[in-house]
Amino acid sequence: MKVLVTGSNGQLGWELERTRPETIDGLFADRNDLDIADYERVLEYTRKHRPDVIVNAAAYTAVDKAEEEPEKAFLVNEAGARNIALAAKEIGARVIQISTDFVFDGKKSTPYTPEDEPNPINVYGKSKLAGEKAVLELLPEQSIVLRTAWLYSSHGHNFVKTMLRLMKEKDEIKVVCDQIGTPTWARGLAEVVWKFCKRGDLSGIYHWTDGGVASWYDFAVAVKEFGSEFNLLPKDGFVLAVGSIDFISLANRPSFGLLDKSKTWLELEIVPNHWRVQLRHLLGKW
Ligand SMILES: NC(=O)c1ccc[n+]([C@@H]2O[C@H](COP(=O)([O-])OP(=O)(O)OC[C@H]3O[C@@H](n4cnc5c(N)ncnc54)[C@H](OP(=O)(O)O)[C@@H]3O)[C@@H](O)[C@H]2O)c1
Repeated sequence: MKVLVTGSNGQLGWELERTRPETIDGLFADRNDLDIADYERVLEYTRKHRPDVIVNAAAYTAVDKAEEEPEKAFLVNEAGARNIALAAKEIGARVIQISTDFVFDGKKSTPYTPEDEPNPINVYGKSKLAGEKAVLELLPEQSIVLRTAWLYSSHGHNFVKTMLRLMKEKDEIKVVCDQIGTPTWARGLAEVVWKFCKRGDLSGIYHWTDGGVASWYDFAVAVKEFGSEFNLLPKDGFVLAVGSIDFISLANRPSFGLLDKSKTWLELEIVPNHWRVQLRHLLGKW
């Protein structure tokens, strides 16, 4: 089986390249190799390489900046996803479209199921939802939308790296405690994506994150705890819990983003590791 991964220099794309099963022939394209916003290029590339599955890990992920340049967010997250689906349809490939908990408004208090009605509250979430719809409409039986949340990795830009840097620079940092979700190591998500690649019988919407629940404050405290344990950080220093109201940001963010993963557990017969186990594992090898 040949699998094309777009956005291969992003967190997930990079982890996909490092976790590829030997039985799969992987083709990893970064933005320079394949700009998904360019329909002609997508068509030319997929006609030439003829993958069986396309994992669309390319995305515009700058949540605040998207509020100022919505057309750019939609160009990648909606039109780009549509381009991938159109090309896949032509060559008979399946698509795994990666999406986000930000398609929900965060007003629930129990985990969001794949059947829950999305209602994004920022431009990024709206553009990702538009991408989901484009893929599902074009390839109802031949696509999977896999939503995830709070990704981090040793590669790319993410909360863990920002915290490690700030905790070295400052004695005290403030982190919001009223947004709830699940930190998710992109490595674990990559392994799940490979399992979905092998399941041509599945289609529709699925959720995946690591296990457990956290606020950004809890996440930061854990970075501090494990960072100190593995001598990445000084032992002193404080993390202070603050409300979102104390942080001015361009984009609204859902206060609750837990995803119900039971459909994925049942289909793939896997259960996620707790997010603290995953984070400790990564920082132990940093
Ligand atoms: N990060 C999170 O916390 C999070 C949470 C939930 C869901 N997700 C979803 O998970 C997926 C992977 O996210 P990630 O964290 O790996 O994102 P990421 O690190 O920002 O990587 C996205 C990659 O897409 C590339 N890209 C942007 N525009 C492109 C285009 N027009 N054509 C081709 N490539 C393009 C970027 O290239 P440049 O570096 O050159 O811009 C980047 O390498 C995305 O669908 C995202 O929406 C992420």
